[in-house]
Amino acid sequence: MLSPTLFPIFCALFLCLPVAVIFTVQRELTGVVSVFSLYSRNVPDPSSPIRPPIPKQDELLLRLASRVNPNQPPGSNRKLAFMYLTTSPLPFASLWEEFFNGSSKDLYNVYIHADPTRDYDPGFSGVFLNRVIHSKPSNRYTPSLASAARRLIAHALLDDERNYMFALISPSCVPIRSFEFVYKTLVSSRKSFIEILKDEPWQFDRWAARGIDAMLPEVKLEEFRIGSQFWVLKRRHARVVARDRRIWVKFNQTCVREDTCYPEENYFPTLLNMRDPRGCVPATLTHVDWTINDGGHPRMYEADEVVPELIVRLRNSRPRYGEDGINGSDWSVIERNDPFLFARKFSAEALEPLLGMARTVLFNDSAGGV
Ligand SMILES: *[C@@H]1O[C@H](CO)[C@@H](O)[C@H](O)[C@H]1NC(C)=O
Ligand SMILES: *[C@@H]1O[C@H](CO)[C@@H](O)[C@H](O)[C@H]1NC(C)=O
Ligand SMILES: *[C@@H]1O[C@H](CO)[C@@H](O)[C@H](O)[C@H]1NC(C)=O
Ligand SMILES: *[C@@H]1O[C@H](CO)[C@@H](O)[C@H](O)[C@H]1NC(C)=O
Repeated sequence: MLSPTLFPIFCALFLCLPVAVIFTVQRELTGVVSVFSLYSRNVPDPSSPIRPPIPKQDELLLRLASRVNPNQPPGSNRKLAFMYLTTSPLPFASLWEEFFNGSSKDLYNVYIHADPTRDYDPGFSGVFLNRVIHSKPSNRYTPSLASAARRLIAHALLDDERNYMFALISPSCVPIRSFEFVYKTLVSSRKSFIEILKDEPWQFDRWAARGIDAMLPEVKLEEFRIGSQFWVLKRRHARVVARDRRIWVKFNQTCVREDTCYPEENYFPTLLNMRDPRGCVPATLTHVDWTINDGGHPRMYEADEVVPELIVRLRNSRPRYGEDGINGSDWSVIERNDPFLFARKFSAEALEPLLGMARTVLFNDSAGGV
């Protein structure tokens, strides 16, 4: 681990790349393992800015990420970080491929967290090739899904200082707008999009899932929030997550009750509601239908349901706005009508009909009169 006093020295070293490279060569010749050789292998693209290696160890990863500049470098373009959290091959990879097709790599980055204990066949290719970050096992009913999301955030913060918005995406999620539309919507927002609901059924049970009073004193029941696992956080909030230890320690406890243990749906809304409620639009831009609840899973669209009318209907729905951080009657929230950008869950068999309407509907922003 780097001590705080070593960090500036570390940074200074990276400003001296040419010297470092010479060093690497010399050290490798003498058989000494050097930090520089590790570092030089980590640079993916010779034209991209010089960066230190991204650590694999969580504590160090988060610590370094918590120190990044919360602002964009002046005059630089904003980028979207698409962060895929998966335990399987991405069933909609080819649809995403088409979504990104033709957009400049200067506008986005792709990151994947892939549980290393699972199989990925077919492997990741195209825009997903070599985008898997150092990942750990991630399972439902444990804090490991939220850990994985924090790892993605920290990695994306360290990887590119131009990452401005950080979107968490599930494998069963698809884009329902063009890249251009998604990009414009997100980079022009000064707030994060994260569902923050208060006084939901199960609030007490979810809060007490780690044992009665296990969340105290840091997170009182009244401060506990619920929301979709899928959000888009602005850079400043991504850094809030990377910096947070106090609240995370509470959520990182093992649950004593599995059936009410959903840290990934509680940690982020609770933390951001505590730290900067006014910096959040309290809604998710990933459409989901919970009118059907299949053992904790929302409605899954099967191939025969996937018709243009479905996409148009999803696009035309208004997000559900939760806690506004003030008192639930904030007009800046009541008057909002943010567009859904993504939707879930789609069955893998829906790929074909989705690809079939990609150009005419999915990525056609004028389809359906919206
Ligand atoms: C990307 O777009 C080009 C030009 O429109 C097309 O030829 C190519 O097949 C597309 N690739 C994918 C993966 O959709
Ligand atoms: C979260 O808890 C796990 C299991 O107790 C532990 O190994 C890990 O270090 C914790 N992570 C953080 C970032 O505190
Ligand atoms: C609740 O919000 C409304 C509108 O923003 C405001 O007029 C009112 O004073 C607020 N009430 C409290 C108790 O904060
Ligand atoms: C996009 O949708 C509009 C309105 O439905 C339609 O007129 C147009 O042909 C569509 N564009 C493509 C490329 O299909």
